[in-house]
Amino acid sequence: MKIQEVMPRLGFGTYGRWKAEGIEAILCALETGYRHLDTAQTYDTETEVGTALEQSGLARAEIFLTTKISTDNYAEGRLIPSLETSLSHLGVDQVDLTLLHWPSPNGAQPLAAYLEPLLDAQDRGLTKYIGVSNFTIALLDQARSIAGEGRIATNQVELNPFIQNKKLAQYCADHGIMVTCYQPIAHGRLGDDPVLVDTASRYDASPEQLALAFELAKGYAAIPTSGKRERIASNFAALHLKLSPEDIALIETRDRNLRAIAPDWGPDWD
Ligand SMILES: NC(=O)c1ccc[n+]([C@@H]2O[C@H](COP(=O)([O-])OP(=O)(O)OC[C@H]3O[C@@H](n4cnc5c(N)ncnc54)[C@H](OP(=O)(O)O)[C@@H]3O)[C@@H](O)[C@H]2O)c1
Repeated sequence: MKIQEVMPRLGFGTYGRWKAEGIEAILCALETGYRHLDTAQTYDTETEVGTALEQSGLARAEIFLTTKISTDNYAEGRLIPSLETSLSHLGVDQVDLTLLHWPSPNGAQPLAAYLEPLLDAQDRGLTKYIGVSNFTIALLDQARSIAGEGRIATNQVELNPFIQNKKLAQYCADHGIMVTCYQPIAHGRLGDDPVLVDTASRYDASPEQLALAFELAKGYAAIPTSGKRERIASNFAALHLKLSPEDIALIETRDRNLRAIAPDWGPDWD
């Protein structure tokens, strides 16, 4: 089955959801109805996710679980053991999706050196789907030629009304790669834009709900996070918000290519 058929479009990000408070927030997300959790080796939240999953009493099959390989584990012989460690932190035999968290910093390693072990991990059943994160069009071209068509399931990138990554998103659509939006609510900064605030108020919604509804309407997945019960719930309620084509077009005009996460060792963005 294609990832588009199985990945719940609105997931819960877990960056910052640490320790007892973090477990509580993840549990709250599961109680609210989120069935897709996003973690990463570098977030240090895999154990919290595993504990919350266990405490929730939900069956493993009900949850879509994503983790990401740290670039530190791209060195020869490290990727598969690191994923096995992630599985043990999460308390599962297999994750649904494993992503390469970033292209190799400064392009120091050739992509094949760390994509091939990920393909191997999938062949061994450690992960159902594989994908990438923070990849540009040029890197996706390379990844598709190494992995073969249809194997790269998603590209997780910074995407919200302020940075819409239109060219990259079109490329992904053309090649059957799902776009997953991180920082989908611009880290709580959407209220700075009067057009978004005004548009949201016409739906009796928050700018965050508006942004999430926009991303879902575009066919993307989105993984907002919050440590606050009421925001966890109100973000999830965006699933019920349907925007008019005119308002989708209006939100498209708010794109400012405003990238918040751009480390100096990162790729040459599109
Ligand atoms: N692949 C990557 O390189 C990458 C990079 C960054 C993030 N991610 C993933 O994407 C997830 C989400 O990204 P993110 O955490 O950076 O940003 P985000 O989800 O866009 O924003 C989270 C921030 O917004 C606040 N917030 C949440 N709901 C709100 C609401 N309804 N109204 C106002 N403020 C609200 C939260 O504060 P409170 O907690 O106080 O509510 C938090 O500070 C992460 O958790 C992680 O899983 C991936």
